[in-house]
Amino acid sequence: MRRPIIAAALALGICAHLRAHDVSKTPITWNREISRIFYDRCVSCHRPDGTSFSLMTYPDVQPRAVAIRDAVLSRRMPPWGAVKGFGDFRNDQALTAEQIELITDWIQDDTPKGNNARMLPPAPKFSPAPATSIPPDAIHLTDTLVLKSSIVLDGLLPRQAADGTQIVAVRPDGTVVPLLWLYGYEERYRHPFLLRKPVALEAGTVIRGLRPPASVLLLPAS
Ligand code: HEC
Repeated sequence: MRRPIIAAALALGICAHLRAHDVSKTPITWNREISRIFYDRCVSCHRPDGTSFSLMTYPDVQPRAVAIRDAVLSRRMPPWGAVKGFGDFRNDQALTAEQIELITDWIQDDTPKGNNARMLPPAPKFSPAPATSIPPDAIHLTDTLVLKSSIVLDGLLPRQAADGTQIVAVRPDGTVVPLLWLYGYEERYRHPFLLRKPVALEAGTVIRGLRPPASVLLLPAS
């Protein structure tokens, strides 16, 4: 009874092996696929004058291939700092499963650059550090808070993060709205969590989950 399972496992293993080394397939290259992913998801921080070492060019990226593979497979990069699926955010820059596979296959294939330099998209341009603008009516939250008047919430910005902080809004009718569950958020990756859709919260809503010294700014929609 066991043999078919083993055979199937072997066949699968062989297919995976063949796939990874399938020379008839057009190779994934830096010029065509990988540069586009990096320009889109990495270089806002990883560039000259960014917050971390540059990953703008092939010579920047190639020597770091192994570290890059580990960082994207473990989803350490791009950094986010919150548990997925709790709250829904429009500025979540997570790689898709397909992008992760392209990067890891490319690295497995010894990081081909590609011969056609015209495939390389133009390097993105950055205006100097777009600091998160904090609206004057932002609400500084350090503990449980009952809203005195209604607000339309557009996002949250951690000021002092603590792992495991799980922030929810409880409406007067008892409905619970998950807002943000911080996990692995670091000051050096400082960024707001911008809701995919602003949430209207009526007066009397309780925002809870914060305990000092953690603190967060509630950003109302302008
Ligand atoms: C929001 C900013 C930001 C984005 C976006 C980002 N990184 Fe990073 N990354 C950092 C910072 C900051 C560090 C820490 C650097 C240091 O310690 O000098 C880092 C470190 C790394 C490291 C080395 C340390 C480690 O954890 O392995 C790798 C590799 C890396 N990033 C790859 C990537 C890749 C690939 C992407 C895109 C898929 C990416 N990063 C997107 C900010 C960012």
